[in-house]
Amino acid sequence: MTRRCFIAGNWKMNKSVAESLVLVRELRNAISVVRDRVEVAIAPPFTALHPVSKALEDSNISLAAQNCHAAESGAFTGEIGAPMLKELGVSYVILGHSERRQLFGETDAGVNRKTAAVLKAGMLPIICVGETLDEREASRTLAVVETQLKGCLGGFGAAEGAKFVIAYEPVWAIGTGKTATSRQAQEVHAHIRSLLTGLWGADTAQQVRIQYGGSVKADNAAELLSQPDIDGALVGGASLKAADFAAIVKAKA
Ligand code: PGA
Repeated sequence: MTRRCFIAGNWKMNKSVAESLVLVRELRNAISVVRDRVEVAIAPPFTALHPVSKALEDSNISLAAQNCHAAESGAFTGEIGAPMLKELGVSYVILGHSERRQLFGETDAGVNRKTAAVLKAGMLPIICVGETLDEREASRTLAVVETQLKGCLGGFGAAEGAKFVIAYEPVWAIGTGKTATSRQAQEVHAHIRSLLTGLWGADTAQQVRIQYGGSVKADNAAELLSQPDIDGALVGGASLKAADFAAIVKAKA
């Protein structure tokens, strides 16, 4: 089973509309040659989704959002529903990012509900899991990831399972410049795939793409992406400069 490598850029709370459009123009030039081997998506802030969507027309770059609400619409001041994102041409929604878990109280049960909303609206979820430094040092990494994964994926069957993207993002590696070694990452990715096999069977588990995230850069991407269960990357800081992001996209041998 060959899984198509999937590199996604999470811009977090960065870039004005004007800056976003400059970055998209640069990215379109920088990665225009990488067509079939690698799928590329970018996740600008909500405010830039509409103009970026237009700027991505006829490109090979997909649009992602960084969060959504579980309800389609209603009295949820300040929130954005999944159908609103779909209307803008969004294909993927990042859910359960560790910043949302740590700073905004996101829970596995909440991610589970949002996942249902994303799928119902016709988009695909990128579900983030990962351990803190304390948890890793207490040898709890695999148990923590298992709890998160089961909490986020409960109730979804194999037919839906193939649509999921999982991002393993060790919290201690996000924005710190410390990357998991390819061995550390592969160990967790293989564990995630075996959990998915238990949930959905081997056929579906083999189709699910598992991205690594946490200080991915041009100089460590090739090594990480060479691992058998690392099917792409979720890139934060290095996705904010076209040359850096393009170098990661091109790192897949
Ligand atoms: P980073 O962020 O690449 O800046 O470490 C990754 C992420 O938060 O998805």
